[in-house]
Amino acid sequence: MLLDTFGRQAVDLRVSLTDRCNLRCTYCMPEQGLQWLAKPDLLTDEEIVRLVTLAVRDLGVREVRFTGGEPLLRPGLVGIVAACAELAPRPELSLTTNGIGLARTATALKAAGLDRVNVSLDTLDTETFHTLSRRHRHQDVLDGLAAAEAAGLTPVKVNSVLMRDVNDHEAADLLAWCLERGYELRFIEQMPLDAQHGWDRSKMVTAEEILERLHARFRLTPEPSAARGAAPAERWLVDGGPASVGVIASVTRPFCRACDRTRLTADGQVRNCLFATGETDLRAALRSGAGDAELAELWRTAMWGKKAGAGIDNPEFLQPDRPMSAIGG
Ligand code: 5AD
Ligand code: SF4
Repeated sequence: MLLDTFGRQAVDLRVSLTDRCNLRCTYCMPEQGLQWLAKPDLLTDEEIVRLVTLAVRDLGVREVRFTGGEPLLRPGLVGIVAACAELAPRPELSLTTNGIGLARTATALKAAGLDRVNVSLDTLDTETFHTLSRRHRHQDVLDGLAAAEAAGLTPVKVNSVLMRDVNDHEAADLLAWCLERGYELRFIEQMPLDAQHGWDRSKMVTAEEILERLHARFRLTPEPSAARGAAPAERWLVDGGPASVGVIASVTRPFCRACDRTRLTADGQVRNCLFATGETDLRAALRSGAGDAELAELWRTAMWGKKAGAGIDNPEFLQPDRPMSAIGG
């Protein structure tokens, strides 16, 4: 099992399939994009499946989430999902995506065994979408969401990041829109994980502000904390339920104590935290012929060293070397 010195067990594996993306969200990347990983440095489809197999079979991982960058840009995605769906015990399989291309792939992904999707949607306004993501792809995202619902990749979850004076006035509109369609909305506090180091604590829209904006239109009652488990989102029932809304307050109310996540980057590095400053190179070990037992031991050791928390709000906080797009959300 993947344990650490604080008694936590990692059962949720986030696998980044590529660091590339077809959007340029301002809170994530600079306009010109980033220096992408070179193809030979990426794990192959087979290498990814081998490591996920090991995690599920020998290390206690029960849930696998594919992320990026934008994971739909990975040509082998459907095959990777299909292989992971055949594992025993079968892990829960989900995908975090910006939704572009999902209209074309949702049915195939469902057939391959994908259970659910999280789609990022920060705004309902086409112009604002362009301001935030620097691309004219709003309709593609909306089409992707509809296709995910139609394909049964449910419950469809929507992630929104609010940026001050850009889309923060849309909090209640986004919730109303998601409620109408049966999507589960979660707001994520902006984190210092952008490549250009532009995060400014004083400009960040906090969970408290988000809730204030929602309270103006909805009656929110906290879900009992027992229902939360290791989920990063705190949830509120909306107007008495059953619908709910979540807030992931990574900065102002960190949830590290219950964290059950382990991460694998597209180039085969294990990270024990989104904010870890070190990594463990499974790719080098794998390519130099390491057996499963040796790889499992490296992974266990990587997790054992997990720190108590990220402490984003502490003055000593250091942003990790890699941006979010190269780690996986
Ligand atoms: N802070 C918070 N959320 C972010 N995301 C990407 N970068 C950041 C950041 N700096 C979001 C994306 C996506 C999810 C994986 O994380 O919008 O919804
Ligand atoms: Fe792409 Fe996601 Fe980064 Fe936006 S936040 S640029 S969709 S990786």
